[in-house]
Amino acid sequence: MKIRLPESAYNFTSLTGATIAIISFFMIAFLFIIAQFHTEGGAYLGLVIYIILPVFLIFGLILIPIGMYLKKKKIAADKAEGKFPKIDLNNVRHRNAFFIFAAGTVVLLFISAFGSYEAFHYTESVEFCGTVCHTVMEPEFVAYQNSPHARVKCVECHVGEGADWYMRSKLSGLYQVYAAIMKTYPKPIPTPISNLRPARETCERCHWPEKFYANELRIEKHYLSDEENTPWDIYLKMKIGASHSAKGLEEGIHWHINPNIKVEYAATDDQRENIPWVRYTDLVSGEVIDYIDEYSDFEKSDLDTLIVRKMDCMDCHNRPSHSYQPPAFFVNNALSAGTMPADLPEIKYLAMEICAEEFSTMDTAMIFIENEIQSYYEENYPEEDKEKIDLAVTGLQNEFKKNIFPEMKVRWDVYPNHIGHVEFNGCFRCHNESLVSDAGYSISNDCNMCHTIIAQGNPDNLEVTSITESLEFKHPSDIDEAWKEMVCVDCHTGLNP
Ligand code: HEC
Ligand code: HEC
Ligand code: HEC
Ligand code: HEC
Ligand code: HEC
Ligand code: HEC
Repeated sequence: MKIRLPESAYNFTSLTGATIAIISFFMIAFLFIIAQFHTEGGAYLGLVIYIILPVFLIFGLILIPIGMYLKKKKIAADKAEGKFPKIDLNNVRHRNAFFIFAAGTVVLLFISAFGSYEAFHYTESVEFCGTVCHTVMEPEFVAYQNSPHARVKCVECHVGEGADWYMRSKLSGLYQVYAAIMKTYPKPIPTPISNLRPARETCERCHWPEKFYANELRIEKHYLSDEENTPWDIYLKMKIGASHSAKGLEEGIHWHINPNIKVEYAATDDQRENIPWVRYTDLVSGEVIDYIDEYSDFEKSDLDTLIVRKMDCMDCHNRPSHSYQPPAFFVNNALSAGTMPADLPEIKYLAMEICAEEFSTMDTAMIFIENEIQSYYEENYPEEDKEKIDLAVTGLQNEFKKNIFPEMKVRWDVYPNHIGHVEFNGCFRCHNESLVSDAGYSISNDCNMCHTIIAQGNPDNLEVTSITESLEFKHPSDIDEAWKEMVCVDCHTGLNP
């Protein structure tokens, strides 16, 4: 049976619209089925299925009534009738058009309900956030995959619950998609992110502060930049929690998140590196202590303009899932894991020299690493094993790819990590001698307050003490007592000091 439609439906615009809509619809259906079986390339497929094709589908559908309206107007002008269509359900053409329209609308509403649900899920997925704008998010995505949070979705830390967060994230997301397409995004992306969800709603949903962490033994292997890549082990007992679990958050590093106390601070820079004012409040006794940097020109009245932050997880763990490690650190790890040969002379030194260079693209970096290592050993150690040198090349290239992203200008030194004090000031931003209270006390930087050293030295000749004692720190290379007079960051930048 041939379905007849109103005369006005037979026009070029409506036909084009219908064709576009039908093709888009079948493409969506087809790709949707494909996507169920394919996990590879899901992000791009999702972009096409839930965003690009629906735009075409809707565009096609809109063309149909526009075409009909224009045609009707033309017919009306010819016949001198009213411009708007008269619907007469006794007319078989009208009836057909009406039922097609009604059924179409119901189907479309159903599909768009389903589609918007899928689109919602899709835009919340790790693939969408991490891979659609490939170069932009690559550093964050790669570091995230190598982090303890690789199974936590991006949105669980970045987008809050509830409709206002949803709108906020989608609105700023729209702008970000625009910035990515127009390539107007800043490189690197600036931090701290102003609209990051507060720690209470993110970290604390999985890491309940009242679940206390005990002390933790942390064993790191270091290598010096000498000919033998001399190894140096450090065993730190980190006092994350209290000495006895019964004391809970009363002492130790996580004391800062004890609900009975409050630590606030103000920073003079965006990265929160310079802290001239810290306030400690004991919420039980009401005692308040202000610490002010003696060497800064900070005045109490500056607090009117500076942002005062209450310390939370993110003030120490600011890189929980995007930690770009400094070369000294990732090369040490590769050497101890054996992915780079620790018995290749001077490899630590050479790797540091190479990573000190700045590159414009990942490809030039990879080529540079290969050429530099090959030619260095050809010239200086021609007798060295070829396979070992190749291992050094691929080992360093792999570590480099995980931590340094030339296209986005992202590397360890653009995002200070606040958790330690060796490469960045971290804890020493507050724990230093220049922040002083009215009573003349500073926030302690005693080497045994946050950790004790259980063992240190060359693994063949390790200096060891018992778990209840602490050794005095011995600096791995001979710098005399300089580490007592200076702070570690004066020399350590993540490269060769
Ligand atoms: C465990 C929580 C967590 C997860 C999961 C997470 N992020 Fe982050 N992200 C953070 C924190 C914290 C920061 C740093 C905020 C600051 O310093 O202000 C950050 C920073 C960023 C930044 C700013 C640039 C930078 O490197 O600091 C981007 C972009 C970003 N994240 C994207 C992502 C993407 C994409 C994913 C998923 C693939 C993701 N994040 C997963 C917590 C998380
Ligand atoms: C959805 C749950 C979830 C959220 C939200 C979350 N984490 Fe985690 N976190 C985990 C899991 C799971 C691990 C891995 C535990 C393990 O392997 O022992 C982890 C591990 C960690 C570790 C230990 C890392 C290590 O190297 O041992 C730290 C520190 C941490 N998270 C801090 C944070 C901070 C800070 C935030 C907020 C920005 C956060 N987490 C948000 C689930 C979460
Ligand atoms: C914003 C400032 C600030 C930062 C940053 C900071 N602290 Fe503190 N910390 C304080 C203050 C204030 C006290 C209390 C000082 C006092 O009681 O005299 C304190 C006390 C401590 C204590 C002693 C707790 C006790 O009573 O047993 C430890 C341990 C500690 N901090 C570790 C750290 C570590 C580790 C870091 C870095 C990851 C760090 N802090 C970063 C401000 C800070
Ligand atoms: C004063 C700084 C500071 C604050 C604030 C802080 N932490 Fe930590 N946290 C540390 C340090 C330092 C460690 C030990 C890390 C290490 O050894 O590298 C640690 C360890 C951890 C670990 C790993 C424990 C383990 O056994 O491996 C988790 C999880 C963690 N913190 C979560 C949190 C959460 C959640 C918050 C907020 C409620 C928080 N931290 C607040 C400094 C802090
Ligand atoms: C306010 C707390 C605090 C004080 C005071 C402190 N440290 Fe640390 N230190 C840390 C934290 C936290 C880390 C670990 C960071 C991490 O997880 O990478 C660390 C790391 C180290 C490391 C590196 C360990 C390794 O193998 O990577 C050494 C060495 C060290 N500290 C020595 C010292 C010395 C020496 C002093 C005294 C001048 C000192 N620390 C004072 C908190 C502190
Ligand atoms: C006067 C400059 C100076 C100061 C201050 C200093 N260091 Fe070093 N540090 C060096 C030099 C030089 C080396 C040798 C580097 C090499 O051989 O690769 C080194 C090596 C190290 C290493 C092993 C190398 C590696 O890459 O893992 C550690 C760990 C270390 N220092 C910790 C510290 C700590 C912790 C502090 C602060 C308490 C500190 N240093 C202060 C100059 C300094």
